[in-house]
Amino acid sequence: MPETIRDARRRFEIPDDVTYLNCAYMSPQLRAATEAGQRAMAAKASPWEIGVDAFFEPGERYRALAARLLSCEAGDVALVPSVSYGMATAVANIPLGPGRGVLMLAEQFPSNVYPWMAATRQAGAPAVFVARPDDGDWTGAVLRTLASRDDLAVLALPVVHWTDGSRLDMNLLSDVCRSEALHLVLDVTQSLGAEPLDVRRIGPDFLVAAGYKWLLGPYGLGLMYADPGHHDGRPIEEAWMNRAASDDFAGLVNYRDEYLDGARRFDMGARAQFLALPAAIAALEQIGAWGVDSISHTLSGLTRQVAEVGRELGLRTPDESLRGRHMIGLGLPAGAGPRVVAELAKRRVHVSCRGDRLRVSPHVYNNQEDVNNLRSGLRTALAR
Ligand SMILES: Cc1ncc(COP(=O)(O)O)c(C=O)c1O
Repeated sequence: MPETIRDARRRFEIPDDVTYLNCAYMSPQLRAATEAGQRAMAAKASPWEIGVDAFFEPGERYRALAARLLSCEAGDVALVPSVSYGMATAVANIPLGPGRGVLMLAEQFPSNVYPWMAATRQAGAPAVFVARPDDGDWTGAVLRTLASRDDLAVLALPVVHWTDGSRLDMNLLSDVCRSEALHLVLDVTQSLGAEPLDVRRIGPDFLVAAGYKWLLGPYGLGLMYADPGHHDGRPIEEAWMNRAASDDFAGLVNYRDEYLDGARRFDMGARAQFLALPAAIAALEQIGAWGVDSISHTLSGLTRQVAEVGRELGLRTPDESLRGRHMIGLGLPAGAGPRVVAELAKRRVHVSCRGDRLRVSPHVYNNQEDVNNLRSGLRTALAR
């Protein structure tokens, strides 16, 4: 039975007068994660208490929790420090060339752009950016681009656009990838943990998420799914812990060619992450206790109320079918963004501005009162 979300705010340390609607920037930390992190920091004062198991067990626990979130096997998950690291792995394992280019979205987050730009340049492959569609329908825009070209092999995409939460229909696009034999590589940093995702249904080649936003984790530890078809692929570094029998410390002098099973060969170096892992595990456990369906349901109620505020104030508000359930971008008058964000911050209402859109990204600690604070703050800021 999932734990109730209604009183979730008490699990965080958010002062009563702070309206934090900026999870897409960085989540606040759960009390449980802070406590786990503090214990972890203290533990190294006594290394004689730290056994060999401590190098491996927390990582395996994290892998298992990540797999539950993704509906895959633990062995399909690798520990990565960042999206750029995961994307470098994807780039190293998907061949590009003149007739094998990469499709991305305009204004996509750079960690899912720069690795592809470098690789396409080196391989003489096209790098194609889909322009932001006037009607807000990214899926249609991607399909039109695909239909107009025959030199693309990879779709490197998010599930929701990081600037404003606009959504792609990943079921549809993954069907197209399957039928056209295109590779699919996803950055789900801005959706995993906030909306359900079933990698068995989507079937990406690689999928990566940073951990410090919707996964409520600490900075510097994310996760990567690798399709079993890539499990014999090439890691971008040769970490000793990823080789077979690496828990036999005395035997490490006997170099081995074999890796550990599955996606573990792609794990980052120093993946024991004594400081970050306990906090990340506490966060994934809490997300599991609430359940992603319930989180998504709660957040969709909040973003609907935010959309209502946008309409009341005459701001451009995206159609619900074209946006994520958990975050929403309200169109501001051109150039007004930074001033509006600063005015809101003065009232301790925290949101982001990306382009000319006010990005509002709630989580389970938010409530009706927070939406009211946003409404009154926005009304004042827009009247100036
Ligand atoms: C969509 C998206 N991907 C990735 C990141 C972070 O990338 P990295 O882990 O490479 O620092 C962010 C941070 O804002 C993001 O919004």
